[in-house]
Amino acid sequence: MKIGIMGTGYVGLVHGAVLSSYGFPVTCMDVDAEKIDRLAAGISPIYEPDLDELLTGGIEAGTLSFTTSAEEVVQSSDVIFIAVGTPAMDDGSANLTYVHEVMHAIGKYANGYKVVVCKSTMPVGTNRSIANYLDGVLKTRNEPFRIDVASNPEFLRQGKAVSDSLSPSRIVIGTENEEAKRMLQTIYAGYMRQHVPFLYTNPETAEMIKYAANSFLGVKISFVNELALLSEKVGANIQDIATGMGLDDRISPHFLQAGPGYGGSCFPKDMQALVGVGQKNGEELYVVRAAVAANEKQKAKMVDKISGVLASNGSLRGKTIAVWGLSFKPETDDIRFAPSYDIISGLVARGAAVKAYCPQGMKQAERAWTDLSGAVAFCESEEDCARNADAIVLMTEWKQFKASGLDSIVKSMRGNVFFDLRNLFADHPRIRLLFDYYSVGSDERRLYSLEEA
Ligand code: UDX
Repeated sequence: MKIGIMGTGYVGLVHGAVLSSYGFPVTCMDVDAEKIDRLAAGISPIYEPDLDELLTGGIEAGTLSFTTSAEEVVQSSDVIFIAVGTPAMDDGSANLTYVHEVMHAIGKYANGYKVVVCKSTMPVGTNRSIANYLDGVLKTRNEPFRIDVASNPEFLRQGKAVSDSLSPSRIVIGTENEEAKRMLQTIYAGYMRQHVPFLYTNPETAEMIKYAANSFLGVKISFVNELALLSEKVGANIQDIATGMGLDDRISPHFLQAGPGYGGSCFPKDMQALVGVGQKNGEELYVVRAAVAANEKQKAKMVDKISGVLASNGSLRGKTIAVWGLSFKPETDDIRFAPSYDIISGLVARGAAVKAYCPQGMKQAERAWTDLSGAVAFCESEEDCARNADAIVLMTEWKQFKASGLDSIVKSMRGNVFFDLRNLFADHPRIRLLFDYYSVGSDERRLYSLEEA
């Protein structure tokens, strides 16, 4: 069975590389010729643990190839995965331009029976409209063959994309077509052997599962973030609260880490899109909407908190702030919708000079944040970043920060304030001795004075 993958973003590239490692011949297609050239040479456009090895392995084994030709992929593949981006438009709804381009190419070049599998996150009803479109085109072309469509949403996490793809939490297959289901079962036979749960649904349900899962996780984070803000006011500790909540199996301990707000290419976009789908269908999704608003509030509150400590008369003029971590989470260079951008913008707007360092996200930030150029100095290391700064703001919980030489770092600074927006150092035995330390979700001053008393 030959497999074609349309789109070489996180989902398409990782999925293609993993399927090729199972021995399937896979061709990945992208309109970006430069990216395809680099991929063909085994150079990954994204930082993702273990992906480089998988790419090189597939290329050397001859199971993984790359092209810019949609025609070639459509004609040579039995199963075509659509894995192009569905970015948010200004009104929050998903932009399906790239999906439609692929759909048109499949309709134009199809030369026999194919299964089209939608991996991209798509609003409810998209799979059925793709199927209807392709039926119509084949009728007009007077072709004797069919094209079947299935929804097969992807749940991989960035930074763990390869390991998530090798052992997924579940496989959701949304189709009413038996042949499409059988083809996917053949492709995913290895997962069946691993006892990965399979769920068969209609296309609309599969599309909704993806939005529902991401939105639920976003709601969970916003919930715990709001409680973190309250905990700081009432003398409670959010980490202990999360532990206490998470010990209940019905809640689970995951996704209860308070922080500066969620980011990334999925939660913000998918939650907005789900709200939009609700509105389009006359159903207001109050819970998701509130979680989106709470996430915006969280980022603003982080700026307020930093200003509250450092600013005189509300102004951060004359203050230098070192920001550690720019990517929306560790182990990725992705800065899309990273809270770091909003928080740094807020600090700059109040007059601060910002120095920034991220183990992987620097190039992306320098390229994308043109509106902040001049206001942010990008540094070589966390030590370099902290030098002569009044405060450190830890934005992303990269493991390497935990191993930093804090004693020499604090000596090299002008001030000694540490805002730990991920509670990475909350258990560090000396952090409160070295720094004027602020975590998220507990009133450090009250805690400290209680300990002294
Ligand atoms: C998410 C989903 O987890 C994944 O299943 C889906 O396929 C794509 O979207 P991803 O965007 O890679 O994956 O990141 P994830 O690990 O889920 O984190 C998203 C954001 O939530 C990050 O900004 C992270 O820092 C934040 N987060 C996560 C918290 O603030 N607290 C938590 O407890 C967990």
